[in-house]
Amino acid sequence: MPTVPGHALPHADPPAAAPRSSGVNGHAPRPAEDFLTVRDVSKRFGITQALDRVSVSFRAGEVHALMGENGAGKSTLGKAIAGLHRPDEGVITLGGRQLAPGDIDDAFAAGVRIVHQELAQCPNLTVAENLCLHDMPTRRGVVDYATMNRRAARLLADLAPEIDPRAPLGDLPPGRRQIVQIASSLGEGEAGGSHAGAPRVIIFDEPTSSLSVAEADRLMSIVRTLAGRGMLCVYVSHRMGEIFHCCDRVTVLRDGRFVGTSRIAEITQSDLVAQMIGRRIDDSASYRRAPHAPDPAGSAPLLAVEGLSSPGKLHGVSLEVRPGEVVGVGGLVGSGRSELLDAVFGLDQAATGAVRVAGRDLPVGSPRASIAAGVGYVPEDRRLQGLFFQLGIAENIAVPQMPDLARGGLRSFRAERGLIQRQLARFRVKAASPESLPGELSGGNQQKLLIARWMTDATRVLLLDEPTRGIDVGTKTEIYRIVRDAADAGLAVLLVSSEMPELLALSDRVLVMCDGHLTGQLRGREMTQESVLRLATLKHARTPDPATVAG
Ligand SMILES: Nc1ncnc2c1ncn2[C@@H]1O[C@H](COP(=O)(O)OP(=O)(O)OP(=O)(O)O)[C@@H](O)[C@H]1O
Ligand SMILES: [Mg+2]
Repeated sequence: MPTVPGHALPHADPPAAAPRSSGVNGHAPRPAEDFLTVRDVSKRFGITQALDRVSVSFRAGEVHALMGENGAGKSTLGKAIAGLHRPDEGVITLGGRQLAPGDIDDAFAAGVRIVHQELAQCPNLTVAENLCLHDMPTRRGVVDYATMNRRAARLLADLAPEIDPRAPLGDLPPGRRQIVQIASSLGEGEAGGSHAGAPRVIIFDEPTSSLSVAEADRLMSIVRTLAGRGMLCVYVSHRMGEIFHCCDRVTVLRDGRFVGTSRIAEITQSDLVAQMIGRRIDDSASYRRAPHAPDPAGSAPLLAVEGLSSPGKLHGVSLEVRPGEVVGVGGLVGSGRSELLDAVFGLDQAATGAVRVAGRDLPVGSPRASIAAGVGYVPEDRRLQGLFFQLGIAENIAVPQMPDLARGGLRSFRAERGLIQRQLARFRVKAASPESLPGELSGGNQQKLLIARWMTDATRVLLLDEPTRGIDVGTKTEIYRIVRDAADAGLAVLLVSSEMPELLALSDRVLVMCDGHLTGQLRGREMTQESVLRLATLKHARTPDPATVAG
């Protein structure tokens, strides 16, 4: 794990010295136990009771995890603390002072920062412009780019010094964009701007869901460093490994209610899961094809890719996926995995080579033709590439199938409704109604919505890029089951996942990429974490003979 040079990270005011303690006994040093307290906080959205009289105490200097199923109320609680939601009832105090309900400025002045679950950035501005968006340095009325770039470089120094402040943000992969977002949340208070209040509480809402393992490690060491300086870090994540590696205590929410707070040292992983979902799950299960299932090797490939290249991204990638197969694609962030799926689906206009579905060539660069041929794509970035945020969730599901469901050139609302109801129920998308907008769903439920769109009878080839990102542990195993059942029913699945256990549990064989090349294939016993990593770092890769990576 990289060491974190400390100089540029903000320090918290020691709680006792905070001049803003103006509570009843604000003169006395506050015991660490109730540095931040949430008392009987409720929040309702329409018919959804997102928080139901939740009470939690947080200590200064701890990393406190918030866990719970998708839709349990974690983000809502974080936003209530940060003043982005006004609770219907209840009180939040920080350092003995009551925060004004639903008042972002008050929370900010008191030192609360939040790193949001969804990326909220301007991709067409540079990294530095994004970092200084709210406080542009100027000289004689014009933006002072030199100062701005220096400030941005300072904010990034601890997290990712390799990011160029002058690069357009949209050119960075999601992992890097997430780091920029974290830098901007951490930095604002000390950026030399006009804002008051150094950070004392930082809420990380699934900060690592789009980061590589190395980036996530780096982030966690930064979180520990911040806590070591007396800051309270509230850490929302579905990744068990991170919770046990990085957190001191954990609070579980379920259906908007407080279930319990435990010390990490005193709770087991399966107890924690049981608290979250009310039952235990077997996380060692494999979802590979059952040994007695018919071997797809005899059938003709459903998806065939030949010599797929794209300047600077892909170099002569060839592969085949047969009906009934889940083929995993391993590799490091930036190895070309997502670019491969983009190109197969027809999103890369510069791609050359052949993509065939059931023996028929797809025209290059035409997602429409891919959809018509039965290709479904769950992309990595649900915000930028996936969901239509202006449309209701019902239409988000029905969109790719509207032409098929139409009768005599007219939309068949009845057929659409049937499909929508089936999919919402099958994927247990938690939403107030089919008319709700995707933005009203919790992060994990947005992801389920995206998967529900493509897992229908019309799909024959399914491209999945980090499909369980932000999905809770219980639902994850359900999605694995659904993917496997779909494959058993004859689908061809190409799966990209950075979560090694997921890749290995779900794939029948694994192809590995490095620098836009396929560097090898693993099957059966060869499919181990070590072998994937070895191939993922194989430099000067030769592209293997297509025959060797065929099914
Ligand atoms: N702006 C909103 N409008 C309507 N409903 C909302 C809104 N924000 C949240 N909700 C609902 O409140 C509930 C709690 O959502 P929240 O985002 O807090 O869940 P979460 O625990 O963060 O879940 P996830 O793990 O999926 O991110 C969900 O049912 C969600 O649909
Ligand atoms: Mg959330």
